Amino acid sequence: MSQDNIQSTLQEDRTFPPKHNFVNTAALSVTSLETLYASAKQDNELFWAEQARQELDWQHLFTTTLDDSKAPFYRWFHDGKLNVSYNCLDRQLKDHADKTAIIFEGEPGDIEHISYRVLHQRVCRFANALKNQDVKVGDRVIIYMPMIAEAVIAMQACARIGAIHSVVFGGFSAQSLKDRIEDTGAKVVITADGGHRGGKIIELKATTDLALVEGCDNVKTVIIFKRTGHEVTLKPGRDIWWSDAEQGQTTDCEPEWLPADHPLFLLYTSGSTGKPKGIQHSTGGYLLNAITSMRWVFDIQASDIFWCTADVGWITGHTYVAYGPLATGATIVIYEGVPTIPDAGRFWDICQRHKVTTFYTAPTAIRALMKIGDEIPNGYDLSSLRLLGTVGEPINPKAWIWYHNIIGQQRCPIVDTWWQTETGAHMIAPVPSFTITKPGSCTKALPGIDAAIVNEQGQEITVADEGGFLVIRKPWPSMMQTVWGDDQRYLDTYWDHFNGRYYLAGDSARRDKDGYFWIMGRIDDVLNVSGHRLGTMEIESALVAHDNVSEAAVVGRPHDIKGESIFAYVVLKGERPTNGIDDQLTDELRKWVATQIGPIAKPDDIRYADNLPKTRSGKIMRRLLRTIAKGEAITQDTSTLENEDILPQLQGKA
Ligand code: PRX
Repeated sequence: MSQDNIQSTLQEDRTFPPKHNFVNTAALSVTSLETLYASAKQDNELFWAEQARQELDWQHLFTTTLDDSKAPFYRWFHDGKLNVSYNCLDRQLKDHADKTAIIFEGEPGDIEHISYRVLHQRVCRFANALKNQDVKVGDRVIIYMPMIAEAVIAMQACARIGAIHSVVFGGFSAQSLKDRIEDTGAKVVITADGGHRGGKIIELKATTDLALVEGCDNVKTVIIFKRTGHEVTLKPGRDIWWSDAEQGQTTDCEPEWLPADHPLFLLYTSGSTGKPKGIQHSTGGYLLNAITSMRWVFDIQASDIFWCTADVGWITGHTYVAYGPLATGATIVIYEGVPTIPDAGRFWDICQRHKVTTFYTAPTAIRALMKIGDEIPNGYDLSSLRLLGTVGEPINPKAWIWYHNIIGQQRCPIVDTWWQTETGAHMIAPVPSFTITKPGSCTKALPGIDAAIVNEQGQEITVADEGGFLVIRKPWPSMMQTVWGDDQRYLDTYWDHFNGRYYLAGDSARRDKDGYFWIMGRIDDVLNVSGHRLGTMEIESALVAHDNVSEAAVVGRPHDIKGESIFAYVVLKGERPTNGIDDQLTDELRKWVATQIGPIAKPDDIRYADNLPKTRSGKIMRRLLRTIAKGEAITQDTSTLENEDILPQLQGKA
């Protein structure tokens, strides 16, 4: 593990206490929050048991809260039975069936309001269609869809019948899709003819066909939702339109009552080694923390219009689009496209037209919109907003202040939420009516979450501002269950470092004198590009799979908008290009990586060298490569370097 970023450089002293207006109208009073924190501290298990009884509708109530007999394979509420789709939809029908559940806006401007009653009917009908395609409890279903309401309907339908879904982000390539189809052993792929993004059509069906050219033997059915209406080819006997699959299906579908530890979904995420891993989440524990965080961090209320801009292909789109908000009876906004179509005012236009109250997005989007200037957001009525959130990467104080002043008009609290695909829901985040916020800090752990910073020996660091490993010391309900099909990888990645005692998040962090957490970055070879996790090894493997490439090393370099950009050093099989420049090949390699993984993984810079900098034992000196990528002077000792003479090439000076 590299420890480059255990050094802290950021110092930010501004504080923002909750405003009276917000506190006075918040769902949770200061006293009830104090009680929450205190009761969680007193007896963590009892606390979660009470929350689970209060927040979830059980068909059969659990008697055991936490089974730790096979720790760290913890099982929460496992002898209880429930259904996630029932908890999201059916229980809203009694009192507010006609309330809008989803406001959908397509990139071309089409808008649809879907009530809880209609959403329930659509989910049930599609669930019956899946059953009709022989999908059974425990079967895996891949969802490769645009960001449209039907993506949520497909997820909810799987949850209703106990099928385990795995959503693949629509921007991933055929190869990435194929890897996930094969790893899950999916029986069905749900996709669309295409989606609208950036003024273009994303060819989802064509990409699915490519992924299925060979292998993927388990896939018996491909269900295609007609979104764009452009021409696609259907393979007889395998492919069926969504509307045809629904023919003759009723809107009654009894939910499957499932043990609380039945897997709800798999979501693939990058690690420092090997292929992306399928993070497996549970039914009961996962939904519980999705709900509690909606209440605590988003202060969700009946009148809220909640918009989380994340795609359902990421964990944020699972917990804060498809599940958490619906389980709390909220109205959500789903937007299909990019923030810049038809112009950079689209997000603010959506907030104004749909009267969004709660807006949750990534720092990369905030920075990109900030760069365009204040004039655009100032031209919209943003007075419906009452709460803002950020997720995915550290937010720099400058962007935080802009978000606060220009978007929140100094009225809206900002919740900077730290969590991960693996944690399922927020772990460290402010409670907006309670926590004094500081720009750039995700503040403190939520009730029932025992987060700490420890040194290499696992001892808690108590010195203010000293960096260390971010760990979670006690199990929590929405924790991942395992890596799909690879228990050992779960143990190795998250638990081995501290001998099974603590969950290792993979981030470095520090706490300031007030005990606030400041995330400093990853401690492994994982990049965070625009809030998306990418393993350097994945990109290296993609590069090396190209005929001309013999070796590659990939590092991140700080980037104003994306947080980090991708910098690749490449050794070719043939001669190095003259002066290290070959624009045509560079272009080809960038496109190649896009087809291997997806456009988000395209290297921003590629530099050619005769060799990579290696120690005498053959280890690539990544730290040195990071320094060079930043354009900084080399200060570290290069005497252990086997081939010092390649340095000018790596620096682009030869
Ligand atoms: O490094 C942390 C960063 O994103 C990682 C998790 O990535 P992923 O599983 O893709 O989930 C992203 C959405 C939850 C973390 O290990 N990260 C996430 N939120 C924050 C953050 N870094 C700083 N501040 C945050 N609020």
